[in-house]
Amino acid sequence: MTYPKRNWYVIASGDDVGSHPIARTVCGEPIVLFRTTTGVAVAMDDRCPHRGYPLSAGSLCGDEIQCGYHGLRFTQQGTCTWAPGQDRIPSRARVTPRPVAEVGPWVWIWTGDPAAPEFDRLPLIPWFADAGWAHVHGMEFLDARYGLLIDNLLDLSHETFLHGELIGTPEVAESPITTTIDDDLAVVHVSRRMASVECPNFYSGSTGLRSPIDRWQDIEYHAPGYYLLHVRVAPAGSQPDGLRDHPQAAHLKVLYAITPIDDHRTMDFWAVCRDFAIDDSELDTFIARSNRDVVLQDVDALNLIEARLGDTWEPAEVSLKIDSGGLAARRVLTDLIASERPTTTPVSVGSR
Ligand code: FES
Ligand SMILES: [Fe+2]
Repeated sequence: MTYPKRNWYVIASGDDVGSHPIARTVCGEPIVLFRTTTGVAVAMDDRCPHRGYPLSAGSLCGDEIQCGYHGLRFTQQGTCTWAPGQDRIPSRARVTPRPVAEVGPWVWIWTGDPAAPEFDRLPLIPWFADAGWAHVHGMEFLDARYGLLIDNLLDLSHETFLHGELIGTPEVAESPITTTIDDDLAVVHVSRRMASVECPNFYSGSTGLRSPIDRWQDIEYHAPGYYLLHVRVAPAGSQPDGLRDHPQAAHLKVLYAITPIDDHRTMDFWAVCRDFAIDDSELDTFIARSNRDVVLQDVDALNLIEARLGDTWEPAEVSLKIDSGGLAARRVLTDLIASERPTTTPVSVGSR
């Protein structure tokens, strides 16, 4: 196993889950998702217990899912209610339902023991529900292992080179970072505070600020699959006064949910929350398009790296100071995976 499974992962956007079953794979496990007539999102193993046909290739019959091969029907609890040609339903004709939870635009699935979901470990994401914030979101599929995306998000110095037209300026790569780890909570913090720097196109276009600006990037990586970037951009020299910030300061929360599909593929869910111009639908469009462009640049880069890596799990690498966040994340992940192993066999996720 190369990913922790006793965890929550985002499996879909809520608006992708409706009355037509969809198929997703998380941590190597095929899952079918659908929504009942009362609006409840349902996830279960995507395999009919009769002959293994994917339930996602079937259809809904009211609130039950019907296998498209021989017609077995299952409730959202996985109980079979109908079988062709017989009244008695075999007791083993059951499908395992998977715990899910909807938080804002995202549907999370618990990939640990389905009978023991730990709801208190779901991330709190207040900006999705706060009336003072607006958000946009999206998802891209990556043909790359999830560790590459974690490396990418923990080291934002690549913005200067990979995202130069959008969010990268020379100062991002030049500015030092501080990295701390909370081992108890499996959280890595990386902070980069830039003073009196160039305002990149993404922020001039969204906030109206002009160079020079103060630009803060404070990352929280919650292993294994939730990432939060606190962004503050403000006129150069302005400082928050207690809880009050400068009137022209803008705050964004750039969120990623990193979901392993299998050892070599990943779902890259993203959302951008903002506390300014929250009713501006044109700004929604600008931010959504800009962030998607950024994500697609990362997707291209990580797919290229994955193609080079093949089945290699621990390639020879040279690490730099900028990698302190990514290296911390690898260690936290390795510890999480090891904590789920029945033996004390040491494991390493290496670079990926
Ligand atoms: S495989 Fe599903 S009913 Fe036969
Ligand atoms: Fe990036």
